[in-house]
Amino acid sequence: MRLDHFAAEGTTVRVWGETDVVVVSLPLPGVLRLRLAPEARAGTYTFPRLPPKPSFAIRPDLAAPQAVQVREAGAELVIQGGDLTCLLNRETGAWIVLDGDLERGRVLAQAHLWAGEVPNARDALDAEVFDLQRTRLTLEAPHGAAYLGFGERVGPIDKRGMHLTFWNTDCFPHHTDTDPLYVSVPFTTVVDSAGQAHGIFVDEPWRMEADVARRRPDALTFASAGPELDVYVLAGPRPADVLRRYADLTGYAPLPPLWALGAAQSRWGYKTAGELRAIVAGYRERHLPLDALYVDIDYMDAYKVWTVDRHRFPDLKALVGEMLEQGVHLVPIVDPGVKAEPGYDVYEEALAGDHLVRTARGDVLVGEVWPDPAVFPDFTRPEVVAWWGSRHQVFADLGISGQWNDMNEPACFSLKQPRVTEGKTLPYDARHGTRPHIEVHNAYANGMSEASRAGYAQFSPALRPWILSRAGYAGIQRHATVWTGDNTATWSHLALSLPMIQGLGLSGIPYAAADVGGFAGDTTGELLARWYQAAVGYPFLRNHAASGTADQEPWRYGEPFLNAIRTALHLRMQLLPHLYTLTHEATRSALPVMRPLALHHASDVDALREDTQYLLGEGLLVAPILRAAHSRRLVYLPAGSEWAEVFNLAEFGTIHAGGTYTVADAPLSVLPLYLKAGHAVPYTDAAMQSTDAQWPRLSWLAFAGADGFVGHLYEDAGNGPTDAPSRLTRIVGEREGQTLTIRRESRGDLPDFDQRESLHLMGLKAVQSVQGATSHSYEDGLLRLSLPAQWTEIRIREGESRE
Ligand code: GLC
Repeated sequence: MRLDHFAAEGTTVRVWGETDVVVVSLPLPGVLRLRLAPEARAGTYTFPRLPPKPSFAIRPDLAAPQAVQVREAGAELVIQGGDLTCLLNRETGAWIVLDGDLERGRVLAQAHLWAGEVPNARDALDAEVFDLQRTRLTLEAPHGAAYLGFGERVGPIDKRGMHLTFWNTDCFPHHTDTDPLYVSVPFTTVVDSAGQAHGIFVDEPWRMEADVARRRPDALTFASAGPELDVYVLAGPRPADVLRRYADLTGYAPLPPLWALGAAQSRWGYKTAGELRAIVAGYRERHLPLDALYVDIDYMDAYKVWTVDRHRFPDLKALVGEMLEQGVHLVPIVDPGVKAEPGYDVYEEALAGDHLVRTARGDVLVGEVWPDPAVFPDFTRPEVVAWWGSRHQVFADLGISGQWNDMNEPACFSLKQPRVTEGKTLPYDARHGTRPHIEVHNAYANGMSEASRAGYAQFSPALRPWILSRAGYAGIQRHATVWTGDNTATWSHLALSLPMIQGLGLSGIPYAAADVGGFAGDTTGELLARWYQAAVGYPFLRNHAASGTADQEPWRYGEPFLNAIRTALHLRMQLLPHLYTLTHEATRSALPVMRPLALHHASDVDALREDTQYLLGEGLLVAPILRAAHSRRLVYLPAGSEWAEVFNLAEFGTIHAGGTYTVADAPLSVLPLYLKAGHAVPYTDAAMQSTDAQWPRLSWLAFAGADGFVGHLYEDAGNGPTDAPSRLTRIVGEREGQTLTIRRESRGDLPDFDQRESLHLMGLKAVQSVQGATSHSYEDGLLRLSLPAQWTEIRIREGESRE
């Protein structure tokens, strides 16, 4: 490849040769973009310019790009700006991106090869590995580097050694080795052996594959069925920095309503309003918290989207209201497939408005999903998104503000105009306006969920929407969160849920979760109880099961399981202040609610690949039991600080040094938790449903380290517009000699309310005196303080250890 020409054009540098073009720009500080278009002369009518490239992933409100400078240095071009440097070799096309300048910068990414279809010796090998490749990019995979993210994937949290396909697929049920799944995010955070991170994002919704140092242990290769590879290199140095830059580029998830974080029940098979009432009563009778009921496809009339079966749900509006009075939100499912039935208004409107996906020959494409025959709205076109958005008024008018968008890969069981397809979906050559399905398939769900968010925002502006989607492409987090689809009721799937959710969190989707109890197959009492415990820190918590499986509401297996589940649900409700604070933080930092240890301990090799545990914020580590009949497990406590044992927030145990493995005892009702020195976590009393995020009783669990501790709390109305009154509180404990001073600082416009606060503090050798608290007691290393309303300062004088 020779790239003889270049032109600096404002904020881009365009470089081209006989056939190939690369355009370099800096969309954000620390983010470099390379549009690699090999063999563009043959396919690009604007050659040697590239046509504009719309993106489903990049946020539409991205500010103007950074300035770039370019100079020649022998065979290389040096392109600089936004704190990054790109060295592009004009004889080979190879490029390197450095963090900083040429002299001192650290190499982030190094590309050996990018190419089109022209075969050579290396390509012949690649052709065996990649299907349907048209363009390819090979990056150096440094020895020992871990590859995190890549969207929704099975396998361990480090994807090194895997070959991944980006093709959203409905797989019922999926297994622990199924690839691809429902969500495609071609973004990875690479953590080198020193714990330094950078990101690679390839913004192509086209069918793609990535070989993550599997075929060649030293290479990360992307292969796309499309004509270009639109690559973003994101600077670190920490994984959290990469994630923030990715969200600066593709958008932050909006704040969900508090109720969406409470306990939720779902089942494919609740068929009548009466059944739903009985479920709510079942929860309430047993003193089990419940915030939401998800309503599956049986509410519809003959699976016709935007209709309600009047026999089984005679008055849905009254039911929604009745449920809301009991603190329960109904969340209906909506599928994209529209029944092709003359006279059905949704179908007629879709036809009249030319809103539907067509075959390569130009006819409306007809397939089969739950409705049969079914046609598919083309959510890749803005006018179709607007039309679908307008349809949400039916639900908004009923008082609904949460929606579950399913089957939006899109799933299609069979086609009436038979064609070969990859998975149960539409054929590669189906038409979306002028674009083939293979180009936009992965982004289909983004448009559907964008419509839902916009619809609820328009018709229920006073309520915060909650949109759940099964499929998605990069950027889906702006519109919806996802769940991990049709898992199974097995121990392996319980364990798999942790790396899957954490991997989604590392892919910019901070509120993902898995079906608690397992979707396919019959669960057991023990599995269900342990699953609820593991899910105490899921970003949202929904029990869901498939049609035909054993009932799996919390009480179906009797004692001792019911009691264990109740304890787990109460713990979830107790932790809501912390979970909601983390949720709010995600909207600003993109740090997920359920965090992999890698996010905060990237240079600790044991923590980096640990995916049977997770962190809730920096300070709380959760180590659930993930295996049948086990009541003990090994726990890794990351290096750098001490960790205190906490069981169900109620009991405190030993303090352990970091960088060690310890054995946690966890009989059926116990979830092992560990609090890190230097951190405080807010919690409240368990309620039967959430109300608002202003906690009348608030407790802090704190562990004073050598430097004291810090804790955060976010409070607001828990629903409604996010510019309404809110308050951010920070409590900071600082040590000076023998004195620990704890200060509380609040910012925001939330009016003061009656809040009774207490603080449980570990990490003091002994206590001589306490000033500023209403009362205190000290026992077994734990200082319990009751605090006056709106307290601002407490002083504790630490005594000498009694030992
Ligand atoms: C799909 C969904 C599942 C749902 C079912 C019926 O399999 O993934 O959650 O219950 O369809 O609507």
